[in-house]
Amino acid sequence: MIALKKRLLKPVLAVLAMNTILFSCQTPVKDQPGSKNPGDSVATKKDWWKEAVVYQVYPRSFKDANGDGIGDLKGIISKLDYIKSLGVDVVWLNPIYSSPNDDNGYDISDYRNIMKEFGTMEDFDSLITGMHKRNIKLMMDLVVNHSSDEHEWFKQSRSSRNSPYRNYYHWWNAERGKPPYRYSLFDINHDAWKYDSQTNAYYLHYFSRKQPDLNWENPQVRKEVFDIMKFWADKGIDGFRLDAFQFVAKDTTFPEFPKGFEKNFVKYYAMGPHLHDYLQEMNREILSRYDVMSVAEGAGNSFKDAHDLVDSNRKELNMAYAFDGVDIAKSNGYSLLHFKEVFSRWDSAFQNNGWLSIFLANHDQARLVSRFGNDGPAYRELSSKMLTTFLMTMRGTPYYYNGDELGMMNPGFTKIEEYRDMPTLNEYRHLKNTGGNLKKFLKEIRFSCRDNGRTPFQWDSSTNAGFSTGTPWIGVNPDYKTVNAEAQEKDSNSCLNYFRKTVRLRKDNPAFIYGRYTLLDKDNPNVYAYTREKGPRKFLVLLNFTGKPATVNTGFDLSKAVMILGNYAKPSDGIMLHPYEALVYQIK
Ligand code: NOJ
Repeated sequence: MIALKKRLLKPVLAVLAMNTILFSCQTPVKDQPGSKNPGDSVATKKDWWKEAVVYQVYPRSFKDANGDGIGDLKGIISKLDYIKSLGVDVVWLNPIYSSPNDDNGYDISDYRNIMKEFGTMEDFDSLITGMHKRNIKLMMDLVVNHSSDEHEWFKQSRSSRNSPYRNYYHWWNAERGKPPYRYSLFDINHDAWKYDSQTNAYYLHYFSRKQPDLNWENPQVRKEVFDIMKFWADKGIDGFRLDAFQFVAKDTTFPEFPKGFEKNFVKYYAMGPHLHDYLQEMNREILSRYDVMSVAEGAGNSFKDAHDLVDSNRKELNMAYAFDGVDIAKSNGYSLLHFKEVFSRWDSAFQNNGWLSIFLANHDQARLVSRFGNDGPAYRELSSKMLTTFLMTMRGTPYYYNGDELGMMNPGFTKIEEYRDMPTLNEYRHLKNTGGNLKKFLKEIRFSCRDNGRTPFQWDSSTNAGFSTGTPWIGVNPDYKTVNAEAQEKDSNSCLNYFRKTVRLRKDNPAFIYGRYTLLDKDNPNVYAYTREKGPRKFLVLLNFTGKPATVNTGFDLSKAVMILGNYAKPSDGIMLHPYEALVYQIK
């Protein structure tokens, strides 16, 4: 194992590592008559959502237009030209609906309204018009495993056992005794059942107490959700990201789970009964009627689960995303051999049938370069560019998180007061109450907490990085004077301009989207080497994942190859790579 990072920190909130790889299945395109190239046989049917690069905007931290310290829709509108300049096709926007913000918008109190802090429905209409004018599509978060406890449905539901909304949620009457234990990811005591004295019953919440789980067995609930989807699809949105969707289907007899299930949340909670029926119904009612892409967070427990979600013959989703890749990075480093094995395995499972997504960071993770690269001054830029090269040259739809194009890194918070993330604060309180090791915890979250990826976007070197004229809801990374978009615009070698180049490279060369992937020099613990090949076009990608020179043996005669991308002004010979070097060759 190469210690890519030497910090001896253990990522705490395994719960937050809910990220994934996705897929969808389409009929493979057969070899063209006369084609002799094996690369053709693995090409899949073309679809816009396979060719898209998705850029994730975290609205709370992107750009604040009204000076209240919180990012908003008008702020995003003011930056649409910037987004366009990246060359990306789709923006995935985290939830912008009305919410009391227990979990930054993942607790929705009105699915048809905009969160006050973010603006109005008029702002939303301008946003989507502005995006479509620039040929950018909009994917919205659909958070329907749970609502907010402040949603009207829940208020009604908890008011009486006879409420017509009672069955919108999961209730367990107290006279039956305590319900079988369920683990809550976000609860201070990790207990997913909360007693409610109003009706002397417990309600279920896999996430926080303010996020009660909806009862998908109730056809009325499904109808409500489809109506909500219709509302937004009619507004012209281009996609749905189904939050925590693998957990919607539950065994509502609530049997006891075998001991130790808490640590295996996905195994025991994901892909419950009727999940595929629900998705097929959703597809029939909504997804098939609009030109929208669909992606589920979570891909179940196996490739079979994943394929079942996205096999086009089953008419469910386009893609799902699994967490195997993103979960690899640990505070004390990770093994590149493991990394290669995971990504190669997922690629081979979907090379002929289905589709996957590629990502290494999002709003539930600390920063890409701090987790998978090296955020020390010598290598922050190089390793960030190397990781970008990886994401843009693999099969699958890339999901790229805002700020990573600048090589933004973890802010290095040292005090609990600097954090905002509800589960992190709950865990801290829990440890405090139970005499846990708070110092160790603070060290751990400095590496792993998702707040690390939520600090304000660094636009320029002015106050608050140009994010807000008010006091930002979460601290700005002190490095913003040097790491910011304005400075990087002016530098042709910046991370930002490198990101643009890699997006262009991908778009110009379908081999990076549909082409065959072949892993080379498999047992090399330092360098990730692979080819992508489609028809007569073949590319070689070399990535040094370490801060030391490293050799690679691909067997190619590079004198016949043309280097088309690299992150060093003076590239190596492609055999002994510079630290964190990325090289892409076209093989003649
Ligand atoms: C997954 C989301 O990505 C995360 O941010 C949220 O806290 C949970 N789902 C609960 O909705």
